[in-house]
Amino acid sequence: MTELQTPPGPRDFGRTATAPAVRRPGWRLVDIPTAADGRGILSFAEGNCQVPFPIERVYWIYGMPSDTHRGRHAHRSVRELVVAAAGEFNVHCDNGTDHDTSHLDNPSCGLLVEPGVWKELDAFSPGAVCLVLASGAYEENEYERDYSKFIAAVHAALPALARLPSRGAAASPFRAASFVQRPPAADLP
Ligand code: TYD
Repeated sequence: MTELQTPPGPRDFGRTATAPAVRRPGWRLVDIPTAADGRGILSFAEGNCQVPFPIERVYWIYGMPSDTHRGRHAHRSVRELVVAAAGEFNVHCDNGTDHDTSHLDNPSCGLLVEPGVWKELDAFSPGAVCLVLASGAYEENEYERDYSKFIAAVHAALPALARLPSRGAAASPFRAASFVQRPPAADLP
């Protein structure tokens, strides 16, 4: 017999997942709907539905040595949903003023990461697969890979960030920077 959990709509997608609660500016754990029966478990996500953005790109990372790290960058505009499709790993998120670590080990739970969040992944278990649903195409100049420049952008944007809603994409220092009519994101420090 199928146990179909009601797929959450866009408004429900951000409810706290079964994993330890995380609700910080710029990232949050979300439940992914699943259908389970005697054959196994199927998890699914559609753009602009369970995932609160159009899915324009999917990539997955595997074969990681346990002592490696991935990420170490922030996106200027791309939103991502990170899922441990197999195994487990840690995701460290940092918005320049607040940071924490999420341990992903459940394919029916994802970490939604907004632009303007520095993200690092490590502590990969053998066979871990990191699946990422992204809102935009791959463009290298959309990345900030220098942590000191990321922090500089955050601090330059803090006055504008204080006037913006305190969570979600609007809290991105890159968005805040354009809000105060600083140079285009590509020209930010
Ligand atoms: P990189 O950003 O270093 O990976 P991670 O975020 O996991 O640390 O990307 C590794 C290489 O793959 C780099 O040359 C860029 C390329 N790449 C693409 O071509 N398309 C993509 O969608 C992604 C995510 C990376």
